[in-house]
Amino acid sequence: MKSKAVEAALNNQIKEELQSAYQYLAMSAEADRLNLPGFANWFKMQYQEELAHADKFFNYVLERDGEVCLQQLDAPKVENASPLSLFEDALAHEQHISGCIFKLKDLARAESDHATDVFLEWFVTEQVEEEANARGVIDQLKMVEGNKNGLFMIDRELASRKPEEGE
Ligand code: FEO
Repeated sequence: MKSKAVEAALNNQIKEELQSAYQYLAMSAEADRLNLPGFANWFKMQYQEELAHADKFFNYVLERDGEVCLQQLDAPKVENASPLSLFEDALAHEQHISGCIFKLKDLARAESDHATDVFLEWFVTEQVEEEANARGVIDQLKMVEGNKNGLFMIDRELASRKPEEGE
């Protein structure tokens, strides 16, 4: 790629997306431990979505004749989770990822890399959706406030999440 700084940042974003996948996989296991199969399904679907995001960055770097340089992942951290804390952590994580995408976009513009700037548009829109999804579940969980029937209903709804087509 023309800009080595953009190439390095894109490689870093591959790691961020894979790290996200790893984190959501751990959250899925934690939800299973909490006997919430719908939550576990939702996080598993999110894990798959993050793998697809990593793949988009991976393919893009190669398409631009760049060099893919994979980095080491960190062990995911999920401790003493509650249904609410899982989604609060998910929202905080997505806000972090949105920040990464915005920084990447700023860099692409500073380096006059118009193709990367346009490529990142999809992720800007996606992050709005990712944050809204997590926030929506947090709102629902706060509404039922530990009521077992309410939690059961939310779990059933989260069980219905399916893999996104074309992701
Ligand atoms: Fe790939 Fe959830 O950001």
